[in-house]
Amino acid sequence: MSAARDASSQGQVAPLGVAVVGTGLAGRMHVNGLRLLPDARVVGAAGSSAEKAAAFARHMGLPRAYRDLDELMEDRAVAVVHVCTPPHTHVALAQHLAAAGKHLLVDKPIARNLTEADVIIDACARSGVLLCGLFQHRYIPQAVAVKRAIQAGTLGDLYLADCYVKWWRDDAYYAGSNWRARHATEGGGALINQAIHSLDLLQWLCGPVLEVSGRVATVAHTIETEDVGVASLLLAGGRGNGSRPALGVIEGTTAAYPGFPERLELHGTRGSVVLDEGRRRLEWYLRGQSPQVDEAGAPQGNASDPAAVSPEAHAAAFADFLTAVRSGGRPAVDGHEARRALEVVEAVYRSSAAGGVPVRLPLEARPL
Ligand SMILES: NC(=O)c1ccc[n+]([C@@H]2O[C@H](COP(=O)([O-])OP(=O)(O)OC[C@H]3O[C@@H](n4cnc5c(N)ncnc54)[C@H](O)[C@@H]3O)[C@@H](O)[C@H]2O)c1
Repeated sequence: MSAARDASSQGQVAPLGVAVVGTGLAGRMHVNGLRLLPDARVVGAAGSSAEKAAAFARHMGLPRAYRDLDELMEDRAVAVVHVCTPPHTHVALAQHLAAAGKHLLVDKPIARNLTEADVIIDACARSGVLLCGLFQHRYIPQAVAVKRAIQAGTLGDLYLADCYVKWWRDDAYYAGSNWRARHATEGGGALINQAIHSLDLLQWLCGPVLEVSGRVATVAHTIETEDVGVASLLLAGGRGNGSRPALGVIEGTTAAYPGFPERLELHGTRGSVVLDEGRRRLEWYLRGQSPQVDEAGAPQGNASDPAAVSPEAHAAAFADFLTAVRSGGRPAVDGHEARRALEVVEAVYRSSAAGGVPVRLPLEARPL
């Protein structure tokens, strides 16, 4: 009897086999997050070479290092693959892995642009495998509390919704990477990489985004893409009667020394809420009530250090996907959900390229 069947005959849930592709920072975060889940077993890792995979497997204590992607795809112990590689590799990896019948979790951004995101979504749909994006900030308990409050009308009609991601990355961060901040490999800079998490939260809480007017610039680093991006937004969601869109602002940068915790500020007819994701702090200012502060969870250090991320939010996102794989359901952040924040980022880039003109959403994906 297989280990899985043996476990299920004893009433336990057999762990699902998960492999990781990509042996860098995200690969490590994924293994650490998966290890918090009793119903997941990290079977092995593949990288850009057999040697890199072997070194990663040794370092992380994984049972297997795959020589190449073919060897991973042939491993029947692997039900789910986490794609933790640079954005320009996502399409080809997703096409191969989906065709091999593996369910896929693709780290953010799901792709460099909407056209590629659609290729990935189609490839998974055609192969009948599930696709999950990764926006782990949606699982921070304080973010969940804000979502519930907005749905319950606690803030009334939202009229202003802002997102600030003022981080710092030094020159070594960019110089040490062969893909970051290059159009061909990342598709953008501070917005598509760093600010996209908070931007996703903003659109999840108050979206959909209807219109974007944006500007990007490169101010503090010798890089190809932006290290500052700003945009003003019109957002449809959050208002009780939906009669008037909320106004909003995005500021995203890796040029704000020494780096400040990212935060969202939402204002409505019944009061305000400040969600300081970086500090895991939530402040409520509701009319007729005393201000309240909820501080639970370890503050994160990734405003200045990319690796300073605790694994709990990742684990919560992975748990949601594993539940969908087991039940044949749909993960909360499926391919279409993962595409939404990318659409806002692409709208900022298109607006900026046209001199800051307003760009209406939904965007038409452009041919590759
Ligand atoms: N969700 C998050 O909070 C979070 C955090 C960090 C990174 N990321 C995302 O994860 C992805 C990877 O980022 P990173 O920081 O780990 O980068 P990294 O440079 O540290 O690591 C990337 C790894 O992918 C490997 N690789 C490249 N092409 C490959 C291929 N075709 N097949 C197999 N392996 C390949 C490289 O050898 C490298 O080991 C990016 O999309 C990034 O935006 C997400």
